[in-house]
Amino acid sequence: MTTRLRTRVAIVGAGPAGLLLSHLLHRDGIESIVIDNRSRDEIESTIRAGILEQGTVDLLVASGASERVLVDGHRHEGIDLHFDDAAHRIDLTELTGRAVWLYPQHEVLRDLLARRSADGGEVRFGWSATAVRDADSATPVVVGTDADGAPFEITADVLVGADGSRSVVRKAINGTDAPGYFREYPFAWLGILCEAPPSAPELIYSASDEGFALISQRSETVQRMYLQCDPELDHTTMSDAEIWDGLQRRVGGTRLIEGRIFQRDVLRFRSFVARGLSRGNVFLLGDAAHTVPPTGAKGMNLAVADVVLLHAALREQAAGGGRGLLDGYAAAASERIWRAQHFSWWMTSMLHATPEESAFDRQRRFGELRSVAGSRAGSTFLAEAYTGWPLTFTL
Ligand code: PHB
Repeated sequence: MTTRLRTRVAIVGAGPAGLLLSHLLHRDGIESIVIDNRSRDEIESTIRAGILEQGTVDLLVASGASERVLVDGHRHEGIDLHFDDAAHRIDLTELTGRAVWLYPQHEVLRDLLARRSADGGEVRFGWSATAVRDADSATPVVVGTDADGAPFEITADVLVGADGSRSVVRKAINGTDAPGYFREYPFAWLGILCEAPPSAPELIYSASDEGFALISQRSETVQRMYLQCDPELDHTTMSDAEIWDGLQRRVGGTRLIEGRIFQRDVLRFRSFVARGLSRGNVFLLGDAAHTVPPTGAKGMNLAVADVVLLHAALREQAAGGGRGLLDGYAAAASERIWRAQHFSWWMTSMLHATPEESAFDRQRRFGELRSVAGSRAGSTFLAEAYTGWPLTFTL
């Protein structure tokens, strides 16, 4: 027995992009169905980056998606770049008038899921998309298996792939041979979560002789920290003491407050942009459309910027304004995507030594750090990108 459903907008993926889009569409009276192959629990416990741009926070609050971000989130007005054995503060707010918010992605997901539930939104967990049919027709179809393993088909006016870096929907747009622009980096981050109070008031990005480290935060009692490592590192082979020693040696001058490490993971560094972001009535959003390396925490913020554009386009079409914005979605989204790709690559390259880095490249890299931290123009470039380029949304 195949379950057949019909909706205006079918959204594959209940991550931040898919859920936020369905929430914004609901506010305009546009019906959608969201499916995800994961359970609600898995979605709510996904550990990802923790920094929200000012525009992301403004949208979450103004659209009624999250009030908690203002209560439980922490506003940060600066970051420290640590190099040459000293901290160099970038005053984000003085340079741009904007700030960022430390509010972990799983909290955003909890808020969005709660909002969709309260509004009677249709989110189906454990539903796996396996293919897209009729991608070139007026009514594309996503097919797959539901939580009981039975087949389903959802026919929609618009199909949205918000289904992450291993997107099924992307294949319908780009095929599998040359899906996009890709770059891999010869290093990774070992990320940890630990039980400890914050070691510093703001985030510390450190480039040292030992390699890169990032001292981030999660809450008053839980901290997130990262240590540059080999992508092939088996993190189970490192003792807690080795991790603390590695972190501490990379941020000389700041005494890290240690605590029980209760989670470890290795984050690979990749840059990716799908070759095509739309085809007819099929559109890609978020990680399905692009991946950035984690330095600078652009991933979720870029997904939100995609949502803003696609939402405006669908809203205009629903209001009888035609499909001009829909047809322009790929070009409009690409602009910000490639700026964010550049920024993420740039922050990454400036702060990390590659295994084959020459003595010249190393000196040049530290020259670059001194230029950025030592000049108002350099610091402003970083601060504008870090806090996020303006995000114009209509609600
Ligand atoms: C994090 O807290 O996970 C985080 C923060 C800033 C980054 C990357 C990751 O640039």
